[in-house]
Amino acid sequence: MATSYKELGLVNTKELFAKAVKGGYAIPAYNFNNMEQLQAIIQACVETKSPVILQVSAGARKYANATLLRYMAQGAVAYAKELGYAIPIVLHLDHGDSLELVKSCVESGFSSVMIDGSHLPYEENIKLTKTIVEYAHSHDVTVEGELGVLAGIEDDVVAEHSSYTKPEEVIDFVKRTGVDSLAISIGTSHGAVKFKREQCTLSPDGVLIPPTLRFDILEEIEKKLPGFPIVLHGSSSVPMDHVRVLEKFGGKLKDPVGIPEEQLRKAAKSAVCKINIDSDGRIAMTAAIRKVFAENPSEFDPRKYLGPARDSLKGLYAHKNQNVLGSAGHA
Ligand code: G3H
Ligand code: 13P
Ligand code: ZN
Repeated sequence: MATSYKELGLVNTKELFAKAVKGGYAIPAYNFNNMEQLQAIIQACVETKSPVILQVSAGARKYANATLLRYMAQGAVAYAKELGYAIPIVLHLDHGDSLELVKSCVESGFSSVMIDGSHLPYEENIKLTKTIVEYAHSHDVTVEGELGVLAGIEDDVVAEHSSYTKPEEVIDFVKRTGVDSLAISIGTSHGAVKFKREQCTLSPDGVLIPPTLRFDILEEIEKKLPGFPIVLHGSSSVPMDHVRVLEKFGGKLKDPVGIPEEQLRKAAKSAVCKINIDSDGRIAMTAAIRKVFAENPSEFDPRKYLGPARDSLKGLYAHKNQNVLGSAGHA
């Protein structure tokens, strides 16, 4: 039986983005696959009074099960209230690739969807995106489109060649598709290794310093589409404190490097009103679990390692809301 997101107590992105653009902050879009991640997201967002986008990829939906997800999202709304503050919560499909998937998500309670036609030729991207918009809008579900290709490799989201968004295309794309927000490519990429070693400089203590994002392209896009909501994917910062814990306890990430927090802060103050973060959560969670396993080899109660992982995630998300995205206090 089809369920509308409204019955679950969720909201779409419309009002949240309008406020975020005006207020100079970005709404966090945190990917999740399981209960502990969801608990951490809700706890952190309630504590910092931040609106939140619960972001689910096709792979995550398969992993968690669509029916369970619907109840988890409904549970998240009730849990936030129980914690003392009814923050606005969006359930968003990340990197949707077909009308079939979008329909299935909308029918099971998603309030927002992304259709990622960024790898398609321009006219095909428009055609696919427009079809999704027509369907989604008839259910009051908001749609994120994408122009420009991010570099990097992350499970299902693969792009061998990156290309920055062309500012001269954005007006035409937004007008002809009717999207509610636009993901752009200005140098971010998915995963824990966002740049090649050769693209970075080295700090005196051996940390890789990545090239600066293309704020000039963002500014041009902003000029073409004043007040229009812009989205940044691939925006994990790959925090070295978590990376060091992960490595200290046997983990290995080859040349990890993320987007510096100051650059995300700067983007959030502009037209960027949704920032996608997945990898940082994965790193923090894995680091915390590795630490428990290394320090307590006899531990086999999942609560004893998933609990600390959840606490670590909560701290990470609260920090981002307060100090990076600036969404704290805006729920
Ligand atoms: O942008 C991609 C997200 O990190 C989701 O990754 O497809 O492995 O769930 P996933
Ligand atoms: P990260 O890999 O930088 O966390 O990006 C996540 C993302 O863009 C999800 O769509
Ligand atoms: Zn993404």
